[in-house]
Amino acid sequence: MSDQNSKANDIVERGLRPNVTGQTTRHNGAPVASENISVTAGPQGPNILNDIHLIEKLAHFNRENVPERIPHAKGHGAFGELHVTADVSQYTKAKLFQPGTVTPMGIRFSTVAGEKGSPDTWRDVHGFAMRFYTEDGNYDIVGNNTPIFFIRDGVKFPDFIHSQKRLGRNGLRDADMQWDFWTRTPESAHQVTYLMGDRGTPKTTRHMNGYGSHTFQWVNEAGEAFWVKYHFLSRQGVENFTDAEATEMAGINADHHRQDLYEAIDRGDYPVWDVKVQIMPAADAENYRWNPFDLTKTWSKKDYPRIDVGHFVLNRNPRNHFAQIEQIALDPGNLVPGIGLSPDRMLQARAFAYADQQRYRIGPNYRDLPVNRPINDVNTYSNRGPMAYFFDDEDQPTYSPNRFEKGAGYLDNGEDSSSGQSYGQAADVYVNPDPHGTDLVRAAYVQHPEDDDFIQPGILYREVLDEAAKQRLAENIAGAMEGVSESVEERCYWYWSSVDEDLGQRVKTAFAAKK
Ligand code: HEM
Repeated sequence: MSDQNSKANDIVERGLRPNVTGQTTRHNGAPVASENISVTAGPQGPNILNDIHLIEKLAHFNRENVPERIPHAKGHGAFGELHVTADVSQYTKAKLFQPGTVTPMGIRFSTVAGEKGSPDTWRDVHGFAMRFYTEDGNYDIVGNNTPIFFIRDGVKFPDFIHSQKRLGRNGLRDADMQWDFWTRTPESAHQVTYLMGDRGTPKTTRHMNGYGSHTFQWVNEAGEAFWVKYHFLSRQGVENFTDAEATEMAGINADHHRQDLYEAIDRGDYPVWDVKVQIMPAADAENYRWNPFDLTKTWSKKDYPRIDVGHFVLNRNPRNHFAQIEQIALDPGNLVPGIGLSPDRMLQARAFAYADQQRYRIGPNYRDLPVNRPINDVNTYSNRGPMAYFFDDEDQPTYSPNRFEKGAGYLDNGEDSSSGQSYGQAADVYVNPDPHGTDLVRAAYVQHPEDDDFIQPGILYREVLDEAAKQRLAENIAGAMEGVSESVEERCYWYWSSVDEDLGQRVKTAFAAKK
């Protein structure tokens, strides 16, 4: 066990069962009599329910898979590190992008339309999805090997994917359906040009560039916002198959890309990508010649040159494809302080869609799986659900606000102590520099002149209840308070006195009588 614990924070090793050899056991730890011969009623007789190991083994086998991703089902991946060698701190305070920072990361490359067993080299856009395990939580950039996309509004995404998948009638891919969709969706022209060109058939995933594709927001220490686009440029160079080569490889080795990456890392030939960004000052967005949030457009490198950030290297293979690649749950909604979304409608839709599919695909507690757990401590009020691996210490409240809370709720004096009050501090709140738009805020309900929480219950108490009802109310409250701690008792007197002084006094007297 100690071996397992010492590896708890290594993203590739954690979750690894201790190396147990020799006697196999059932899942309950009891020794298995035989893995080879099942129990029968006599040497020629049938199997029997008594052979629990047989049943358990077959039953677990039937449940070995999780549903495949709807898009991007076929993939492979690796782990490595992001090294930040330049200084972009003037644009973002995100810890992972501070000079000199080294951050462990995982990556999953994929094809979009094919199913889990489909050939890697079928012509397609290729996924380029990264997870950075930062001190402030997981940050995911879930991009592609192209800087743009087929559509610009998330409401069309299911239609787009349907058109690339299979016909309901016969389960076949269908060129007519694909071209019908593309040609009736002219915004797809930029991406289809990439797809039908050389980049639609990369030679290996080591030899392709990656892009965050969307416009994201960076926020610096001073709270200034910038728009940013990510570029990941392969130091191996960009190399593609011809159409004929790709088709031939699909027949020879459906897993060509997966095998290539695995073997390169295995032999110590670690692939590296330079990480660069284009930065747009927030104020430029309104008058830029293209809508900077439209995912079908790039920003000219002449207008916004690429700036160095650093590089990442892939130097570790997964220990287990299922646990670490199939079950990795990459999500554009995994953001960290200093980085936010933008008004890109596709990105907004994605912020919802990924976790939703992952709850279904893996289960609601997928975030607790070793590959999905952040390296920092998780402190959340979400708990329980199927396969809950963790539970809170019995002293930890499971609700907010509460009297132990620090940093994220209402204090005794009624102040909200959340850290997410001003933009840029919380990952999910961003400044919208678009004068036609509006800033996102976390603001309480707009207050009207008499919007005091205690005015109406006070009126109810004074003007509706008769003397007997007032006394019953006070005694009911005192009865319900039985068992409260001293500090909560004091809060109760404050609460009821705020409704009405007389009520507060009655509650106090009634509670004292019960002690
Ligand atoms: C509104 C538009 C989109 C929606 C609703 C959407 C939805 C999804 C969903 C549900 C998954 C499966 C997630 C999982 O189960 O783990 C997925 C995977 C993926 N999507 Fe999207 N997607 C959209 C647009 C995009 C765009 C624009 C890109 C790239 C720029 C992209 C890149 C990817 C990649 C790379 C994966 C695979 C992630 C992995 O390797 O696990 N998607 N998408």
